[in-house]
Amino acid sequence: MTRLLPLAFLLCAALPLGACDNMAKQPRDKTWTPANTNPGSGSWPPEPAPNTVAREDRPQPAPALTPALLARGKERYKIYCTPCHGYLGDGDGMIVRRGFPQPPSFHSEALRNAPTRHFYDVATNGWGAMYSYADRVTPDDRWAIAAYIRALQTSQNTAAAELPDDVRRTLR
Ligand code: HEC
Repeated sequence: MTRLLPLAFLLCAALPLGACDNMAKQPRDKTWTPANTNPGSGSWPPEPAPNTVAREDRPQPAPALTPALLARGKERYKIYCTPCHGYLGDGDGMIVRRGFPQPPSFHSEALRNAPTRHFYDVATNGWGAMYSYADRVTPDDRWAIAAYIRALQTSQNTAAAELPDDVRRTLR
């Protein structure tokens, strides 16, 4: 009898495992499979709730460059990007001064030569230590910020000789 006891124990232990095996074979989503966007068939809402930004939006084309777009970009940049990138884009924002990894300056050779879409893409997907802003900044606002960063770069890298006469006269 004592010899049979371990055997009985093994049999009992094997029973629930058999049941688990069936569950493992049922259809299911794997980790990181895209959310089910098919209306009515999944738990993911087909439309984003009001005043939220859908993270899974497709990349949007750049809107036309207007003074209004730049003004909006300046406002959004100040809110979302200055804490690390600083007001001039030097990468010396307040959080960096308190110990967050330092971002590169927007006035570096590489970032001056980067296409405007790069700024949109980094805000959308994040970059290294920087996390994504896709859930806080709408696609249009990401383009507005990208345009403003271009303006910041121009503001720091334009030779006085290239300025219009009336602007140059105001320089000291
Ligand atoms: C919390 C700090 C923080 C904030 C806020 C932040 N960034 Fe960054 N950003 C970083 C850091 C750190 C890096 C460098 C990351 C790395 O190289 O690992 C970086 C890098 C970048 C780069 C350079 C990518 C490259 O090619 O080297 C761009 C462009 C950029 N950020 C844009 C933005 C924009 C636009 C915003 C505002 C929507 C923003 N960042 C807000 C921390 C921040």
